[in-house]
Amino acid sequence: MSGDKNKFLGNISPENFLKEYWQKQPCLIRQAFPDFNCPLGADELAGLACEDGIRSRLVLEKDGDYPWQVKHGPFTESDFKSLPDTHWSLLVQDVNQHVPEIAALLQHFCFIPFWRIDDIMISYAAEQGSVGPHLDSYDVFLLQGTGKRQWQINPDDYSEDDFIPDLDLRILKHFQSKQDWMLEPGDMLYLPPGVAHLGIAVEPCLTLSIGFLAPSRSELITNFIDDSLANSPHGIRYSDPDLKIQQHPGEISKQSLEKIRHMMASALADTAGIDHWFGKYITRMQTGPVPVNETRLDPAAFKSCFMEKEILHRNDYCRSAFIQHDNKITLFINGEEYPLPKELLFAAKLITEQRRIDFRTFENHPLLNEILVILCELYNQDIYYFEG
Ligand code: SIN
Ligand code: CO
Repeated sequence: MSGDKNKFLGNISPENFLKEYWQKQPCLIRQAFPDFNCPLGADELAGLACEDGIRSRLVLEKDGDYPWQVKHGPFTESDFKSLPDTHWSLLVQDVNQHVPEIAALLQHFCFIPFWRIDDIMISYAAEQGSVGPHLDSYDVFLLQGTGKRQWQINPDDYSEDDFIPDLDLRILKHFQSKQDWMLEPGDMLYLPPGVAHLGIAVEPCLTLSIGFLAPSRSELITNFIDDSLANSPHGIRYSDPDLKIQQHPGEISKQSLEKIRHMMASALADTAGIDHWFGKYITRMQTGPVPVNETRLDPAAFKSCFMEKEILHRNDYCRSAFIQHDNKITLFINGEEYPLPKELLFAAKLITEQRRIDFRTFENHPLLNEILVILCELYNQDIYYFEG
């Protein structure tokens, strides 16, 4: 899996990339993907944007009903026919979930934990198309797919007042480029969160945004608390059997405040609860309908099928991760948890790191049958499938 790690980052080792650039400063990697042959064309991207359940947007800089108008998909062919010649972009999210060749690109980023991956968004821009100067709150690798795009960046700090009010997009009022590069197919620009950037298509082009998520503290706390409340709606309540007469009944006493603080802090002090909740939260699926296997198999039938087909495919909508505890492992897939004995670390790695599992790579493993039972269960839950 790690064979061509170095090749992909040019002369920078993944260790150096993390040390010098990751979340610190932009990094241009010329020919990160030498002779890159973009697995998806503009027409196929437009086709995806016409499908139900796929998140897509059209951004019209000048020729919409108002400046920087954003229209949301699904679109129809006639939506594309009525577009101007220049200054627009089509953006499609989660393309890695829908196009296996795009999902395969994620393996190159295995020097970053997979749970940090958000999605691969692909944009098609007409000549002069862009989404305006803006900031993102996530790390992104901007890989040029086809055509040329000029990227300009400015790492200054910005405040809320620096954005144009009342637009569909958060666009900076004034943007002064401090550094710029022309990207050609296979070139890749890494940007940490918060670096202002503007990418203008100098000719019609496709750009892949490999985005990494970093949940905000408020998102985490809100979600964790919502989850805890859903699981115990009538949980702990304020109680004061030790109440004494107060000198000033209008006062909130130190003792009462202490109880309130303790009640609230104890909700966030449940470290094991937080770990389990986080595994589920971060592997929750973003999008809708998933393919369903036609048959359900028992472990024996599953094993014969696996031996015959040789390759087991993981659905690309799947999000997975695992946590190692002292005496067990918890595997998380699409927001569900699966406890595993710690001897089955091999299975947890196989499931979370490989999109395609080759039977021959573990047919002699001493825990073969135990691993097959887990894979069979996941097959029956439509997380895996056989081709053909
Ligand atoms: C784009 O591909 O047009 C936008 C990508 C970005 O600026 O993050
Ligand atoms: Co951006």
